[in-house]
Formats: sequence, C-alpha cells, structure tokens
Amino acid sequence: MVIAIFSDVHSNLEALDTFINETYGKVDMYVCLGDIVGYGPDPVVCINLVKSICGTDWAIRGNHDRAILEPRKTSKFNFIAAQAIIWTLGIISENEVNYIKELSDIIDYKNYLFVHGGLTEIDEYIISKTSATRNLDKLSSLGKNILFFGHTHIPALWTYEGFKEITLNEPIHLSNEKFYLINPGAIGQPRDNISLGSYLIFNDVENYVIFKRFKYDIEKTYQKIINRGLPEYLGRRLKFGI
Ligand SMILES: [Fe+2]
Repeated sequence: MVIAIFSDVHSNLEALDTFINETYGKVDMYVCLGDIVGYGPDPVVCINLVKSICGTDWAIRGNHDRAILEPRKTSKFNFIAAQAIIWTLGIISENEVNYIKELSDIIDYKNYLFVHGGLTEIDEYIISKTSATRNLDKLSSLGKNILFFGHTHIPALWTYEGFKEITLNEPIHLSNEKFYLINPGAIGQPRDNISLGSYLIFNDVENYVIFKRFKYDIEKTYQKIINRGLPEYLGRRLKFGI
C-alpha cells in the first residue's frame, strides 16, 4: 500500500490543491494528521477536500480543529491564531462542523499509530530528544513500530539515536526491529524556514518513506488572507516558512 501522509493544511487551498494534483492516482490512500483549519483563508473548501480524500476514518482532529468545536479553547492560543479561529467559525457551516466532530484523536492501523501532537500528551510538540524518547518509549510499550505525527510543522524522523537527517525524494528504508517517530511537515504553513509545502509517501509493503516538498502559489494565498480580513502576518509568514 502506498500512502500519502500529510498534516497541518491550515485552510491553505492553493497548497492543498497542489499536493492533491501531485499525488492523485499515484497513491492508494491518504491519511491526514490534523489541523485542517486555522490561520488560512479557505476552511470550507479545505475541509471538504480532506473529507473527499480521507473520509472520516483516515483523518485526525488537530488542536485547531478542536478549537472549532470548543471555541473557549482559543484562550490557549496566541492572539492571531485565536482571531483566525473566530473568523473561521463565522464562515463554516454545520456540515463542516459535523465532519470535524466525526474525526478521532488517534488512528491505530497495523504496526502504526497516527496522531496530531504526541502519544504522551495530545498537544505536545515533539521537537527535542527528551520528548522524542518519551514518545518512543510509549510507542514500544504499545507494541507499535511507527508513530506518524504532525503539529510542529517541521518534517522529522526520530529514532532512539536521535534526529535523522532527511533527504528529499529518495526512499528512507525502515526496519521492523526499530521504532520511529515520523512527521511529514506541513502542507499549508511550513515552519522550517522553507516556504515549500511538505508531505510524505509511505510504502508499508517495502517499508520506506519518501519526504517531498512542493511549490505552490503563495502570492494567491497571501492576497486572499488580506482580502478576507485575516491578519497580514498570516500571509507574510508563508513566504518565509516561519
Ligand atoms: Fe498546526
């Protein structure tokens, strides 16, 4: 099975569209690791596109998606993120809200688990060896080999040895004897100082992942953010990958 794994769309239609065009017909299935909404200008279309490729079984609810269901949770968000959630609530309909309600916080499939943040805490950021080790311990205690996660917006591959340098567009072979935490990066708001969208391809038969980056029309997304009255910074940061 060839699986396209992606995360953190954040209502960025131009990025999501480019990703789907690049992968459609070439993969057997899609898995979304959450944060379909928040920050960006196209929540309605993005939710419906994710629904059409992942259904309800293969998409996770992220912290921004949960904030749609529990707007009081935005008190934990920074001011700009909270503003974007309030704006999103004003334009999505019951259909979109119902889809988000149907999603789960974790997907358990074969030897793999899929979450948005982490296994030891729902909204944790796995960005250090300490947090990675904690999650690898939990993963192995559950008898699983790979945890696919998002939330940090940074592509990553962790093992007990630490952070593995990622090479793009070539298979990184995995061992059934080892434990891995793997993050596809963000479709719609990368934060590794690279403005390109990011995802990965997982081949669960040949047991490898391929990290991919793609160019999309950032200027169009930027203009929509301005025209729809969202904070200008949310557009500017896309140009810098921050
Ligand atoms: Fe996110």
